[in-house]
Amino acid sequence: MTDRYDDIVKKVLVSEEEIAEITKRLGKIISTDYAGKELVLVGMLKGAMPFMMDLAKNITLPLEMDFIQTSSYHGGTSSSTAVMFKKDIDTNVLDKHVLLVDDVVDTAKTITKVLEIFKGRGAASIELCCLLDKPEGRVVPYEAKYVGKVIPNEFVIGYGLDYNELYRNLPYVGVVKDEVYK
Ligand code: IMP
Ligand code: MG
Repeated sequence: MTDRYDDIVKKVLVSEEEIAEITKRLGKIISTDYAGKELVLVGMLKGAMPFMMDLAKNITLPLEMDFIQTSSYHGGTSSSTAVMFKKDIDTNVLDKHVLLVDDVVDTAKTITKVLEIFKGRGAASIELCCLLDKPEGRVVPYEAKYVGKVIPNEFVIGYGLDYNELYRNLPYVGVVKDEVYK
């Protein structure tokens, strides 16, 4: 474990080394699956930022990048019900292959709503690549095509994931100590 924020992290769940393996593995698969296709990576701000950059570096194809930002957690630890776009893409995705990139799928409410909105935009395909998957948290059934790692239903921080907007800059994903929530 690195010495950054050691006082707030109870346990490292996905180390820097494992993250590097994940982005390499997924980048390779995506490079094969999208060969010869017009690919647009759409990162879901803010959490997907570090993952999207590392993933993109491991994709050996020409690609466009854009971002959306949905209305979020409001600083808490449970999902909000309504999803709105605070920021939308300005890329025309008509007949292009959209690959959404996110940090974690938990209830799947967010991704379900985002997919509904994107389906009306004429993309040739829409899939999701997420770093983490918490299947135990599902409220809506959903299975992402590309998953970095399946994790238990614990609240995690780091590598894009925040608690009250902090800790996104940790280079690994970890579980927060209970006293941090006080
Ligand atoms: P969902 O709609 O419940 O699937 O919410 C997914 C979003 O909630 C993620 O993109 C994160 O922004 C946030 N989220 C879910 N679980 C965690 C977590 O453990 N830590 C930090 N953010 C989380
Ligand atoms: Mg998010």
